Amino acid sequence: MAEKVKKIAVLTSGGDAPGMNAAIRAVVRQALSKGIEIVGIHRGYAGLLDEEITPMDAHSVSDIISRGGTILQTARCLEFLQEEYQQKAADICRKHNIDAVVVIGGDGSYKGARNLRNHDINTISMPGTIDLDIASTDYTIGFDTAVNTAMEAIDKIRDTSTSHERCSIVEVMGRGAGYIALWCGIANGAEDVLLPEHYNFDEQEIVNHIIEGRKKGKQHHLIINAEGIGHSSSMAKRIEAATGIETRATILGHMQRGGSPTARDRVYASTMGAMAVDLLLEGAQQRVIGVRNGQYIHTDLDEALAMQKSMDEYQLSICKTLANI
Ligand code: ADP
Ligand code: F6P
Repeated sequence: MAEKVKKIAVLTSGGDAPGMNAAIRAVVRQALSKGIEIVGIHRGYAGLLDEEITPMDAHSVSDIISRGGTILQTARCLEFLQEEYQQKAADICRKHNIDAVVVIGGDGSYKGARNLRNHDINTISMPGTIDLDIASTDYTIGFDTAVNTAMEAIDKIRDTSTSHERCSIVEVMGRGAGYIALWCGIANGAEDVLLPEHYNFDEQEIVNHIIEGRKKGKQHHLIINAEGIGHSSSMAKRIEAATGIETRATILGHMQRGGSPTARDRVYASTMGAMAVDLLLEGAQQRVIGVRNGQYIHTDLDEALAMQKSMDEYQLSICKTLANI
């Protein structure tokens, strides 16, 4: 029988994502409602190593549910890849009587959790990343807001692209994954979408496609290019030279990470945050929260990290068909 959890910590790590604040709020308030002491670790694993640990109360998470970013701040901490710093972090948790750490972040942050586990610190992780690139879940906190932000920006680019009868290449985030690109491809009705999961595409086919579209009377050609492919500006120059059609590249960048979270992100974040605390009370060890087929689930940390995520080829095929028939 696991010992009763008395004190837990929460941190955010990796790239921030809209909805992280809602998740922090849920962890803090669910813990307090169950009589558990809760502390916030600032700046992810970097702040843990610097002992930036502060008590949280119900008021400390007031007024944050609608705010993007993370009140705990976040960091990418390279030191934490080294064994000596992982040991130090675990010792700091023990010094502060922290029974478990709730980690909100992407799969890099999950690997950090695994290293805390390797030094006997219990962790519960939940998926916070705009990239949707975590295999153990169908949903990641922040994706919905980011994809809506990108979609709205691309709608605006599409307006001007049509007026000027141009080709537009819009680069969206996602690191090595193409989910934001695929969703924008469908939601914005893009003629082409370039995904890192299909890295070896033929640029000549895109050139031919733009010329065919123009002959059919298309007034613009919208290409969504995933960050994992990149090089949008040089691609625009080559496409303009090959087609004779004015081509502009726009890199949406970090605007995709900010902004007030959508209802979906707030609700998933709140549910997962509360669930993290409930799992700890049930004695769970080293679990990763996710969503599968509409149900909230939790998976063993090692199993979650071993999973592979695949691209939805059907969605990719309909994206192309619907924009190009
Ligand atoms: P994300 O969590 O969004 O995937 P990163 O990949 O940048 O973001 O990871 C966030 C942080 O998690 C890293 O800066 C590092 O502190 C920690 N981390 C990532 N990979 C490892 C690893 N293999 N071992 C220990 N810590 C890691
Ligand atoms: O993981 C979230 C993300 O926004 C990725 O889409 C992107 O590749 C990366 O973080 C950008 O990181 P940075 O904020 O360090 O530029």
